[in-house]
Amino acid sequence: MRYGHFDDERREYVITRPDTPVPWINYLGTDEFFGIISNTAGGYSAYRDARLRRLTRYRYNNVPPDYGGRYLYLRDDATGEYWSPTWQPVRRDLDAYECRHGLSYTAISSSLGGISAQALYFVPPGQTLEVWRLRVTNERPEAAEISAFSFVEFALWDAQDDATNFQRNYSTGEVEVDAAGGVIYHKTEYRERRNHFAYFACSEPVAGFDTQREAFLGAYRGFDAPLAVQRGASGDSVAHGWSPVGSHHVRLTLAPGQTREVVFLLGYSENPRDDKFSAPGVINKSRVQPVIDHWLDPAAVEAGFAALQAVTGDVLGALQVDTPDVDTNRMVNVWNAYQCLVTFNMSRSMSSYESGIGRGMGFRDSCQDLLGSVQLDPARARDRIRDLAATQFASGGAFHQYQPLTKTGNDAIGSGFNDDPLWLVLGVAAYLKETGDATILNEQVPFSDGGQATLYGHLQRSLRYTLDRLGPHGLPLIGRADWNDCLNLNCFSETPGESFQTTENLSGGVAESIFIAGLFTLAAREFADIAYHCGRPADANSFRADAEKMTGNVIEHGWDGDWFLRAYDHYGNPVGSAANAEGQVFIEPQGMCIMGGIGVGNGVATRALASVRERLATPHGIMLVQPPFSEYHVELGEISSYPPGYKENGSVFCHTNPWVMIAEAMAGHGDAAFDYYQRINPAAREAISEVHRCEPYVYAQMIAGADAATHGEAKNSWLTGTAAWNFVAITQWILGIRPELDGLRVDPVLPSAWPGYSATRRFRGVTYQIAVRRRDAPAEPAGQPAASHGHVPSQVTGVIVDGQPIEGTVVPFAAPGATIRVEVIIR
Ligand code: BGC
Ligand code: NOJ
Repeated sequence: MRYGHFDDERREYVITRPDTPVPWINYLGTDEFFGIISNTAGGYSAYRDARLRRLTRYRYNNVPPDYGGRYLYLRDDATGEYWSPTWQPVRRDLDAYECRHGLSYTAISSSLGGISAQALYFVPPGQTLEVWRLRVTNERPEAAEISAFSFVEFALWDAQDDATNFQRNYSTGEVEVDAAGGVIYHKTEYRERRNHFAYFACSEPVAGFDTQREAFLGAYRGFDAPLAVQRGASGDSVAHGWSPVGSHHVRLTLAPGQTREVVFLLGYSENPRDDKFSAPGVINKSRVQPVIDHWLDPAAVEAGFAALQAVTGDVLGALQVDTPDVDTNRMVNVWNAYQCLVTFNMSRSMSSYESGIGRGMGFRDSCQDLLGSVQLDPARARDRIRDLAATQFASGGAFHQYQPLTKTGNDAIGSGFNDDPLWLVLGVAAYLKETGDATILNEQVPFSDGGQATLYGHLQRSLRYTLDRLGPHGLPLIGRADWNDCLNLNCFSETPGESFQTTENLSGGVAESIFIAGLFTLAAREFADIAYHCGRPADANSFRADAEKMTGNVIEHGWDGDWFLRAYDHYGNPVGSAANAEGQVFIEPQGMCIMGGIGVGNGVATRALASVRERLATPHGIMLVQPPFSEYHVELGEISSYPPGYKENGSVFCHTNPWVMIAEAMAGHGDAAFDYYQRINPAAREAISEVHRCEPYVYAQMIAGADAATHGEAKNSWLTGTAAWNFVAITQWILGIRPELDGLRVDPVLPSAWPGYSATRRFRGVTYQIAVRRRDAPAEPAGQPAASHGHVPSQVTGVIVDGQPIEGTVVPFAAPGATIRVEVIIR
């Protein structure tokens, strides 16, 4: 069953009923001002940091769900009837409803009783404000008197404190309202250490306003039935403490067929610390006023929206493909790329599942997000790399998370996740391959515990961090956890509520991770290529030797016979072995060891992939572990805390699936790789939305596994490394368009049913027009299959660049500005 459809041309997903299984959300903002918005206008906004600078309040896990939002109410002043044109929060049945989620904007349209309305929400590029453009049309044969009310509830900036510290917060709230009532300023704590405030402005003369929540709602009433709306008049309330809100009341007289437009702005502004006030206690508006005046003008709104569309359109222009599969096209051309950008912006901070308080910027998360977004915005990727490296320690270890506003590491969680530093190597490698900008390697970047080194030095330390921490089998020690945050082999927790991630209470220097071993070989080889490229062959050779040695250790101690082991626990017992009663096979080492080149070409990799297919694959994707743990294992940690089939305990943890797709592609198995791709492709799952339940346009972190009662049900959509890795798997390995240090490789591993595909790729200032087709007649220019990555012969039999055949599959560089035709013939 579907709840909407894709509008491919407009790059929108169109939701046609408001009661989706869960709120289906979108993101607003491309620079510093961000928000989430659901298909019924729920959500909230923040400036740069969803925890420390939250503008509006959102009630996670509320009933009814998705409460707190960018609310609008319409009231027919002749009858007193009122409704929300976005359905929530009034939830009156509407005659028509449609939500269009686009690239960083959302438009919700509806009509009731001959009054139609459209609310468009977006953040103009470069601005720290969001625009709500409301259009109301009278489709009745007679004139209509309509009242429109706006509503936001302000958060008192620090979202954690806002949700807990009521003894203080009920007394701190302060607002200012301009003389005409059109601009409401939220200035809680501005009197003391804050130099920032929020504002909520309206383009039309107002009949009234409210800034105290209870005055607007009335005692004991909810957002679904505000007293002010019911009676058709605001209370002109000024908040002193309690809960500051912003609401405008605009009266609209509409002739038959007439449309009126009202613009609301919700914004963030700062003043210099020594110039905060224009009179004692009064906000200095000299800087913000011109901004408000500008954006309240409908012409400016038009231009701002056009500018936003130009920006997003340009970003997606980095890669556009035309394959025989519509769902692949949708994801690659629009939605997966967009999700990559959103994960890059948000890391794991604000979503329907991430409260914006808990996790901020994850180190490994943000490094992996780079893999999917670097081609979209190389300049910002560069800055991000520096920020991430600056949260490293001189040991090469890294803070597991940091706050975007302060860019400092999060002490509460600390470090000791032994995989973390290695992801930085992959992120930087992706940046270098995309841009060729080797200057970044020579930049000095500080360590968070003092001192500094070049970025090149940071990467060396990242790798050394693993080599300095090897266990009894010569395999990397796992520390608190590796990629799998829930495999806590040095944490023996019997205390409810204790953090599995930070309780490292029994570290014996024994627990080892085969996953990190695979990641190390991958990162060491990537680094060796970089070192070689910048004229440091000794470093290259030394890390290549380390990778070889690690490979040997994995084959000797990390191979279980039919698949790669997962780990050794605190007692030196294998985890993820046929010898275990539960948790026999894990997906992570199968994908990662093969990506690291371990066992490729000698039958080991193909055996591991066969085991994945036999033991882990379901129609809804590949599960993380089988059999899942049916009881709590103190020696394994959080993984066994989840009911079987959920999260790390045997769900289809989507982030890991593309590793297997890549491994299959490396083994030359185009059918298998694409088959796995489609099993979790959200667009391909649109028709089973009642099972999948999450948004059909973005990946979710997990899909419940075969052992779960709700097999096939997705959760935790949007902010997941799944976005970046699936983008890499489909574009770089299946379609095979892979940036490398020496040029753009085009080495597809396509499913056998595809005759080919075409693509346009922007790469280092050059536009590559790529056409891939299967060799169908002997007369085609054919040759020997090109040598490929690993030991598997490529599908490619010929590459023709601007009419000239070339050797191999790497298209050499051309002058920036050029357009190059690349024809690729495959077997
Ligand atoms: C979740 C993981 C997450 C970890 C750290 C666990 O409860 O299952 O997916 O990475 O918490 O926040
Ligand atoms: C979610 C975390 O954000 C990510 O870093 C981790 O790798 C996965 N959970 C798996 O535990």
